[in-house]
Amino acid sequence: MATLDEIKISAKNNMSICKMCKTCNGETCRGWTPGPGGKGSGSSFVRNVAMLKQVTLNMKVLREDTEVDSCFDFFGTELSAPIMAAPIANVKINYGSSVDEMSYLNALGYGCKQAGLFAFLGDGANREAFEMPLNLHKELSEHTVMTIKPWLLEQVFEKISEVKTCSPKAIAMDVDAAGLILLKQMGVPVAYKTVEDLKKIKEFANVPFIVKGVMTIDDAKVAIDAGAAAIVVSNHGGRVLDDCESTIEVLEEISSFVNKRLKVYVDGGFRSGADVFKALALGADAVLIGRPFSHMAIGGLQEGVALYANKMINDFKECMRMTGCITLADIRRNCVNIHF
Ligand SMILES: Cc1cc2nc3c(=O)[nH]c(=O)nc-3n(C[C@H](O)[C@H](O)[C@H](O)COP(=O)(O)O)c2cc1C
Repeated sequence: MATLDEIKISAKNNMSICKMCKTCNGETCRGWTPGPGGKGSGSSFVRNVAMLKQVTLNMKVLREDTEVDSCFDFFGTELSAPIMAAPIANVKINYGSSVDEMSYLNALGYGCKQAGLFAFLGDGANREAFEMPLNLHKELSEHTVMTIKPWLLEQVFEKISEVKTCSPKAIAMDVDAAGLILLKQMGVPVAYKTVEDLKKIKEFANVPFIVKGVMTIDDAKVAIDAGAAAIVVSNHGGRVLDDCESTIEVLEEISSFVNKRLKVYVDGGFRSGADVFKALALGADAVLIGRPFSHMAIGGLQEGVALYANKMINDFKECMRMTGCITLADIRRNCVNIHF
């Protein structure tokens, strides 16, 4: 069985665009969109990773020797930890991947399932880019969520009708994709969404609706008013707006405002179990991880994804142990310090 380091080498060999840096922090790929990088100067991707390092953990070990429980409920499915794979589409265009899109998607979905985690699946400009994740979702609706782009409403309803035939646990929409360069270049119509639009989509979906791409209290309020079940605090990995705040900087005020009225997930630059722990301490219910999961799928297929997922789960549990947190509910604001 390959090691994580071997899988990383294989990922590097299997990608002609992404350089598979030691730490995936957006420095090398600044402005590479399409590509794996952040938009414009690339500062939003870089900031996502950098600001997470400005949050530190408080060690607390004088306690009873009880094993920790990291189990997390995702709309009725019990996961091993509050960690999920973020939707990443078009690995050929964005990474120059020699692994084809369907093999990549299968690796992500089945690898996450093997480790007891959930994977979000993306959507794209052409029929194939929607059909491939949908085919996987048909087989794995217990462990995947479809993330529909904010197309014009008629197209949104058409796609959601197809997703509904898979008995989905939830349906997501990356509302920030209106800023994506690739879609603009391809000339396909995506549109900003109002509270009324989101209400219609949520009602049509008739399952928990997740709004991905919330970076302000104002947008969180719109998601609440629309009846969403969850938001993902996300700037699309820095790919939709240059010089954007990092997600960890806005997380605490958004989760305080939300005050449990819906679930709060977050993504952008999370690279370790400690990073996941920081998000939970600042009010998130779970964390999505993007680029590292896709590297592991491209480098090691299902086995690579499962190996990486298990490493993240174990790292996260180790942080719980070392901070005296026995359950997820014990991970509170006083477990961390913010230095920004
Ligand atoms: C190459 C690439 C493709 C992406 N495709 C999608 C997509 O189809 N749908 C979506 O909601 N987000 C997409 N994202 C954004 C991710 O879901 C996620 O928000 C982001 O990558 C998280 O940051 P991280 O990669 O630093 O962990 C994409 C990101 C990258 C890098």
